[in-house]
Amino acid sequence: MSPTLEKFVDRLPIMETLKPTRRTKNGAYYEVVMEEFRQKLHRDLRPTRLWGYNRQFPGPTIEADTGEPVQVRWINNLPNRHLLPVDRSVHNVAREPEVRTVVHLHGSETKADSDGYPEAWFTSGFRETGPAFSREVYEYPNHQRAAALWYHDHAMGITRLNVYAGLAGMYIIRDKQEKLLNLPAGDYEIPLLIQDRTFNADGSLSYPQQPDDAAANLPNPSIVPAFIGDTILVNGKVWPYLEVKPRKYRFRILNASNTRDYQLTLDSNQPFYQIGSDGGLLQKTVKINQIGIEPAERVDVIVDFSQYRGQTVVLKNNLGPNADPEDATGEVMQFRVTKSPARKDTSVIPRHLSRIPSLKQNNIRAIRNLKLTSSNDEFGRPLLLLDNKKWHDPTTEKPRLGTTEIWSLINLTGFTHPIHIHLIQFQVLDRRPFDLDRYNQDGKIIYTGTVEAPAANERGWKDTIAAPSAQVTRVIAKFAPYTGDYVWHCHILEHEDYDMMRPFTVTDTE
Ligand code: C2O
Ligand code: CU
Ligand code: CU
Repeated sequence: MSPTLEKFVDRLPIMETLKPTRRTKNGAYYEVVMEEFRQKLHRDLRPTRLWGYNRQFPGPTIEADTGEPVQVRWINNLPNRHLLPVDRSVHNVAREPEVRTVVHLHGSETKADSDGYPEAWFTSGFRETGPAFSREVYEYPNHQRAAALWYHDHAMGITRLNVYAGLAGMYIIRDKQEKLLNLPAGDYEIPLLIQDRTFNADGSLSYPQQPDDAAANLPNPSIVPAFIGDTILVNGKVWPYLEVKPRKYRFRILNASNTRDYQLTLDSNQPFYQIGSDGGLLQKTVKINQIGIEPAERVDVIVDFSQYRGQTVVLKNNLGPNADPEDATGEVMQFRVTKSPARKDTSVIPRHLSRIPSLKQNNIRAIRNLKLTSSNDEFGRPLLLLDNKKWHDPTTEKPRLGTTEIWSLINLTGFTHPIHIHLIQFQVLDRRPFDLDRYNQDGKIIYTGTVEAPAANERGWKDTIAAPSAQVTRVIAKFAPYTGDYVWHCHILEHEDYDMMRPFTVTDTE
């Protein structure tokens, strides 16, 4: 358990926007170095040893305009000693594996050799590289619409520890259409990167020897690897506060936690105006009082503080009616609304935001039924699988370049999995509940309810989607614009590392 830390004593930091090392005819070129360093995460906590990009936690923000390519040389200068306990059985090795890293830009349309394939890892100084090919300088074409993406580590079997140690940051793509909307911008557009952590008394990060130990507060701890921290951080500070003017703000919210999902509300009972999701702006603004956000999901919201002059507003995490009153994670951060009137707020909350052509009209080339299942490894420990296959089983998903497919995610486990597909942004078609007990008896899917359309705030472009237990969640995607080897996985990092990840290949042949 973490030491008791007073809430709302540290100001919310804003990640710095990275300046290119140089500009070339191929776009902006950056060098980003992964290093170990210490950073103060709370007033009363000794500086915490972390791993981060350019000695920052979270990493610096990279910004680009649509169509403006970015190149990044990701440099691993980490010490060759893990910061957190490595579960060796996962790696099937007698000695601790070397520190491995590879960076993935989540939500991006990237060529396979720049996508951060989990086996394209490299060790400090590029001494050793994994079995998959990757280039040394990654290229991000940024051909996609404006959106909040994020970069994070994706090394095979060890992503949960590398990200927990601090290897994550935001990446914002902007475009003209978005600029024309006159949304709150500049000082009034704020990224909120939310994570949970547990600290030791000396300020160091605490992570259990095996991640399922941490799941003690889950309903059935022996079933599932998970990590639930007892302390919430935003932009790398524990329960921070932000002074705001009585006006509208745009918050780019990212859940960068390993396992934890959040149900965000405001204690003023005012609504959020959600304008975007993973893949950018929605079609229409959605007025909503509570927003669920699974690991890796992004929500783009406007909050209007104009009626709360001189008051405080707390961003809460609704833990539900059975929450332990001692649980401090029901709060995320605090906004302190100044008394002084803001300069005239000329930003708007548009009703119509963007056009999202439905993929339903496309020719559907394949419908894949993909089960989310659980099993045990050779040590008898729980594993979660995609379609009962492990990472190393032969690739079964081979969509053809430029074709549209429906993936039906049939969740046969007892809890929600946020499923993420690389390369593409998809649309959610629907969800439908079925009888899980019946399935466990005779392997039949018997639906218990009608087809449910996605919620209003799930009707935009998505790259990560909640697939709830005992439901079939259907998504539709066009597999383009690149061929090659990619992955899809559960974005609960403990699940991903314990085999809930599979390769897929976009092919250009029959
Ligand atoms: Cu955010 Cu495959 O990752
Ligand atoms: Cu991704
Ligand atoms: Cu999962």
